[in-house]
Amino acid sequence: ANLTNEEVFQDKVDQEIRIEPKDWMPEAYRQTLIRQISQHAHSEIIGMLPEGNWITRAPSLKRKAILLAKVQDEAGHGLYLYSAAETLGITRDQMYEQLHSGQAKYSSIFNYPTLTWADVGAIGWLVDGAAIMNQVPLCRNSYGPYARAMVRVCKEESFHQRQGFEILLTLSRGTEAQRNMAQDAINRWWWPSIMMFGPGDEASPHTAQSMRWKIKRFTNDELRQKFVDICAEQVKILGFTLPDEELKWNDASGHYDFGAIDWTEFNNVIRGNGPCNKQRLDARRKAWNDGAWVREAAMAHTEKRKNRMAA
Ligand code: ACO
Repeated sequence: ANLTNEEVFQDKVDQEIRIEPKDWMPEAYRQTLIRQISQHAHSEIIGMLPEGNWITRAPSLKRKAILLAKVQDEAGHGLYLYSAAETLGITRDQMYEQLHSGQAKYSSIFNYPTLTWADVGAIGWLVDGAAIMNQVPLCRNSYGPYARAMVRVCKEESFHQRQGFEILLTLSRGTEAQRNMAQDAINRWWWPSIMMFGPGDEASPHTAQSMRWKIKRFTNDELRQKFVDICAEQVKILGFTLPDEELKWNDASGHYDFGAIDWTEFNNVIRGNGPCNKQRLDARRKAWNDGAWVREAAMAHTEKRKNRMAA
């Protein structure tokens, strides 16, 4: 039979054959991946800022070394992901330009401030925990370079999640002030963490098509529910509570019920009006501008070498 390009493509996806950079792909698939992978890369890079804020104030040398390693891992994740996006025909400079101009989105979660050391624990447990829940299925997404990059990213994320949980566990065995500090961090990070999964399925414009293309393997609400179910149990081990009075095990559904998410807050944050959006973008623009001389020096060096070779 004479199959169209589109049919051959969808057939491969349905058979779980990976799509590689030089394969034919629908333009909308390419654009969806560029959008998602670049947003993901920006999230990793912006995500270094809230925790980077605590590197100089970590409570011990050991904690400092762990946090430093974690923040460096995030830089690495951003770089793999920018490389994966480049295979789709966008340049790194274009992606940076989209970030610095405020045109590109990045995860809502990184627009909240890190007020105390316990926030580093809460970010590891909740934010990295949510990231893993979302990213493990991405290891099986249909686009080869993205799927392969996610394998290593997920291994590192699970280390990040454990280090966060362990910080909170240590604080839970500490003084009353330490326990209060940890509970306060959980209270502030819980709702933003469950917002990370994105709008509810009925309000998510991209989910249905991304599921057909096997970019997404689960919907936003499915992943959010799995995450709530896990955290509702883990918080008991910590001896803390989640700030949701409606959180309750439901025998009939086999899941935890939870309260309504404040989508107005979520939409404000993704439109640029969260507590730290301006600060985060200013920090990235400053880093870009401060690094201009390095880029220029590298280009001048390349030029000189080229001339020397030619001579
Ligand atoms: N923060 C900011 N924007 C979001 C968020 C969020 N938490 N959730 C959804 N959005 C945006 C989407 O990017 C989309 O905007 P756009 O059309 O302008 O690109 C819009 O809201 C509608 O959402 P969806 O239709 O649900 O979009 P999508 O199918 O892309 O699903 C999701 C969103 C789940 C975040 C998906 O893109 C994804 O899995 N991305 C990869 C993982 C990732 O980026 N993680 C970053 C945080 S984890 C970390 O970096 C440690």
